[in-house]
Amino acid sequence: GLVAAGGFVALAARVWLTAPIDTTGDVDFDRPLAIPPLASSTVVDGERIFDLRLQEGVADFGRGRTPTWGVNGDYLGPTLRAERGERVRIRVRNDLGEDTSLHWHGMHLPAAMDGGPHQPVGAGATWTPHWRIDQTAATLWYHPHLHGKTAAHVYRGLAGLFVLDDAKERSLPLPRSYGVDDIPVILQDKKLHDDGSLDEDAGLFRSAGLTGDTVVVNGTVGPYLDVSTEAVRLRVVNASNTRPYSLRFDDGSSFAMIASDGGLLDAPIFLTRLQLSVGERAEIVVALDPGERRVLRSGPSDSGDRLAGGGDRLDLLELRAADELRPAPALPAALTEQPALAEDEAVRTRTFDLAGFSINGRTMDLGRIDHASTVGDTEIWEVTNADGGSHNFHVHDVQFQVLAVDGEPPPPELAGQKDTVWIRPKETVRLIMRFEGYTSPGTPYMFHCHTLRHEDLGMMGQFVVVEPGQAPDDHVAGSAAG
Ligand code: C2O
Ligand code: CU
Repeated sequence: GLVAAGGFVALAARVWLTAPIDTTGDVDFDRPLAIPPLASSTVVDGERIFDLRLQEGVADFGRGRTPTWGVNGDYLGPTLRAERGERVRIRVRNDLGEDTSLHWHGMHLPAAMDGGPHQPVGAGATWTPHWRIDQTAATLWYHPHLHGKTAAHVYRGLAGLFVLDDAKERSLPLPRSYGVDDIPVILQDKKLHDDGSLDEDAGLFRSAGLTGDTVVVNGTVGPYLDVSTEAVRLRVVNASNTRPYSLRFDDGSSFAMIASDGGLLDAPIFLTRLQLSVGERAEIVVALDPGERRVLRSGPSDSGDRLAGGGDRLDLLELRAADELRPAPALPAALTEQPALAEDEAVRTRTFDLAGFSINGRTMDLGRIDHASTVGDTEIWEVTNADGGSHNFHVHDVQFQVLAVDGEPPPPELAGQKDTVWIRPKETVRLIMRFEGYTSPGTPYMFHCHTLRHEDLGMMGQFVVVEPGQAPDDHVAGSAAG
């Protein structure tokens, strides 16, 4: 499964993480980073078929045996991989004792295949969504989305990467040997009881959401990665419940960001830090010198950070370069040309105020459609963190672009295709998106804060996509309830 050789040999209790890892302690990077396996698949009649089994497991987070959930293994799940244009079919079998769901975060697909709260997978049941991959190469991810249960189910370990490939990305001289110089980095934090079990009371069920004191990366506590090439590509996903990360290296060195949530940036940008809130992804390329050790770390925040929550210093992952490194080609100056949506294409502006675990004063109701968008339309969504909590915003089905942050052009790391964006207290982000391809007046997509506890508490709404000429109001059920 997910476990790197040697890393989990000793299940004997180890207690070096009894104190919170914060500003002072240096983490002993003494376990090899687990690399999620690539999911196997078979191609039948041109359709790529994956089998996923949601199951109970046991992990070692440094304090004995931790009961967990996993996908085809003890904790987390395999990396799914598919090509643009390809048809995929995923058989999701739920061998847990309770209902859950599996959502394909960042995927453009029919609403009935989305794996959101309207597609629960019952205990013992198998759910088989299928669709055609119709978007550019990107690092997406999957996780449960059962209403009211998302925080707990992700926390127990149901999550994994869904990597999309395309010809454009493959034509570029980028690191792409999975597990060698192209590495998933799934960031999570945990709170553990003394007996090793996950502490789900420590904030998971409180309003703010859980912030743990033990960082696990791909399920590994205290991970190091042996690097054999001059450049390594990290596909970083924040799969935590609440915590935003303010990523940097311990030596302050810069790295190249090549992709955000929805795929490649137009050109690499060079950063010394990068902020990722829950659900956001970034692909970065790090250049190393022979023999060097470099630690990927989060925080502490600088005063200029957009990220309020990046306060603690957390050491995440040590990169250990071999004494001799295989040469890597220079990063290309240009990566792709993203389709930019122009503001004057937008046919309407919607506003969303996030406050009090609701959006525009309404708490999530599975029986209420909050609005209808028309297929082919470009819309502007203005989203405000009105109550100053730790909020971000995620939209299903589409990738959007950030037009402005409090009226200013976005920083370069927010300039690409995004599906999730952090919103500072009292800040307003102006997003532009186009609804294409799929209509389904009866089955909604979600928009929500991706702080998982907030989402569970109801900071979420539902929209449908309808054909032109269908009056949106026909489907708006502020009135019609279920
Ligand atoms: Cu990552 Cu609505 O989800
Ligand atoms: Cu929130």
